[in-house]
Amino acid sequence: MKILILGINGFIGHHLARTILEKTSWCVTGMDINDNRVSELTSNERFRFIEGDITINREYLEYNIKKHDVIIPLVAVATPSVYVSDPLRVFELDFEANLPIVRSCVKYKKRLIFPSTSEVYGMSEDQSFDVDKTNLVLGPIHMQRWIYSCSKQMMDRIIFAYGVKDNLDYTLFRPFNWFGTGLDNILEPKEGASRVITQFLGNIVRGSDLILVDGGAQKRAFTYITDGIDALIRIIENKGGVATQKIYNVGNPNNDHSISHLAHLMLSISNRNPEYPQQSKVITRGANDYYGEGYEDVKNRVPNISNISKDLEWTPKVSLEEGLEETISYYSQYLRDAKELIGVDFGK
Ligand code: UGA
Repeated sequence: MKILILGINGFIGHHLARTILEKTSWCVTGMDINDNRVSELTSNERFRFIEGDITINREYLEYNIKKHDVIIPLVAVATPSVYVSDPLRVFELDFEANLPIVRSCVKYKKRLIFPSTSEVYGMSEDQSFDVDKTNLVLGPIHMQRWIYSCSKQMMDRIIFAYGVKDNLDYTLFRPFNWFGTGLDNILEPKEGASRVITQFLGNIVRGSDLILVDGGAQKRAFTYITDGIDALIRIIENKGGVATQKIYNVGNPNNDHSISHLAHLMLSISNRNPEYPQQSKVITRGANDYYGEGYEDVKNRVPNISNISKDLEWTPKVSLEEGLEETISYYSQYLRDAKELIGVDFGK
């Protein structure tokens, strides 16, 4: 099987490529504007890297879609602060730039595995989110945060419609707060520049305080990257075509915790590691102050995973604490860089 991964240098892309090469006999071609996280794979004869931008190298992209069996487009903005600060960029990249890729898959009859998002459920009050039953609940237009959810929802609907009209072979997967090594850059000092776990880790590394937005009672079901990748491998395998034209939540309902719990757990794990600075405290701040106007939050977000468990025999295994321990221990290699780059004095 020949697999084309767009955005291979990203969080999901580089983990997926490494696991495919380790555990299967499939060939992987990856396109990205950067290659720092996949450079170690280039010696593998089943791997090929193409430097390219999906918004610029369109004909070359179409040519490559034609030559592969499975297409996995992972290029997107997925950071909430950008939904508020630069909503048009989110629409242009996540929706506009990805639409021609979807259409090429229809034209050349290729299997498409596309990332939807847990954010499509928005502020639904369901206890757990069901792909076939839960209503997708978004706020008013001036709440710009929802442009990401809305762009992704529109793409879900288009892909679904191509399935009905042209029998497109697709699977939509919805990651629920995947985390792990290599998520975002913890050396990025700007508040809100990354998702919450790397944001908190960056705070710990810089010795600054962990900020709970609006008190931190809001909850997320955190999913460790190895569990997410395991689900993706099963979706690519697609034994008996069972995953074709399906939508799957890929999340861990057992790791449903508040952001406040997350902050205290991360501090207690990093405090057990003597390499980490031990200066941070947990404080709270209002959402408008932290993200700016146009931010609205999701209070609860628990996935119902019964269809993927039944179809693909997938169950997530890694607890939040185990995943955090692994992630925090991995990032300790950047502590010296942080010290030099940001000038943090750890007092050690
Ligand atoms: C994320 C992003 O939209 C996407 O990465 C993705 O599609 C989806 O959800 C997912 O991964 O399932 P969200 O969970 O709101 O959205 O993003 P985070 O930045 O990880 O924030 C989680 C929660 O922590 C939010 O309530 C946020 O307000 C809070 N937070 C964040 C803080 O309390 N403090 C911080 O410093 C940062």
